[in-house]
Amino acid sequence: MFDLTGRTALVTGSSQGIGKELAKALSEHGAEVFAHGTHPSEKLKAAAQYIGTDKTATADLFDANAAKSLFSQTGGVDILILNASVQYKRPWDGFSDEEVDNQINCNLKSTYYIIKEYLPYMKANGRGRIVTIGSVNQYNNHPELLLYGVTKAAQMKLVEGIAKATAKFGVTVNNIAPGAIYTPRNSEVLSDEAFLKKVNDSIPMGYVGDAKAMNGAALLLCSDEGSYITGSEIIVDGGMHL
Ligand SMILES: NC(=O)c1ccc[n+]([C@@H]2O[C@H](COP(=O)([O-])OP(=O)(O)OC[C@H]3O[C@@H](n4cnc5c(N)ncnc54)[C@H](OP(=O)(O)O)[C@@H]3O)[C@@H](O)[C@H]2O)c1
Repeated sequence: MFDLTGRTALVTGSSQGIGKELAKALSEHGAEVFAHGTHPSEKLKAAAQYIGTDKTATADLFDANAAKSLFSQTGGVDILILNASVQYKRPWDGFSDEEVDNQINCNLKSTYYIIKEYLPYMKANGRGRIVTIGSVNQYNNHPELLLYGVTKAAQMKLVEGIAKATAKFGVTVNNIAPGAIYTPRNSEVLSDEAFLKKVNDSIPMGYVGDAKAMNGAALLLCSDEGSYITGSEIIVDGGMHL
């Protein structure tokens, strides 16, 4: 089950956190994986080693040319996981212009342009797997994560539309929406016991998830076993969206 032998994959934002675990899971199931980070770094090298690959690609997804740059480094891949994102916590009217642009560029526009860049190869092959990483904030209305939630909700709309347009070419497009997950992004805030209790209390299962929690959903969606699933979403959040 979930055999990815012979498949190539790119996981954006796999220098740490959820992306690093997703990339390792794909690699452990036989895929040849490109690890990705914003810039070349020791952290990315160490992540690649952890993932079990010697292939890395770098591109800053704030940059409009990132999709073309990435494709020139990786060539076509069978599996694309669009996981990189940025998040700024502010009241809805408190974002700087740069913070607005960064979130829209990295979390939404890059998804559109990267899929557009990588899709012709998948279509020509008659198969492909695209998974975007969304968020429970597509559903919840966190007072300081409105713009982030907007980018993730809009990304889901892209998933549905592109899934419909590409289904007949054997390419599936789906979203995984994590809830609160331990990663370097939030390790500092979650180390505050009072804050952690508040977060745990907001999750029906009562605890923050592990960075590996999305691996099962991703393996299903990226393998032959997931071939009849498209335009869908798997929410992995211990019930937090409810
Ligand atoms: N953690 C959570 O609780 C949670 C909850 C819901 C959804 N999510 C979603 O899950 C995904 C992974 O989250 P995470 O917590 O693992 O994130 P993270 O720890 O903040 O890691 C973010 C990754 O994205 C990359 N990245 C950031 N800015 C970039 C840019 N401008 N260009 C290219 N790459 C960039 C980083 O690469 P560098 O280190 O090289 O910059 C890093 O590998 C994200 O889409 C996030 O929105 C997370």
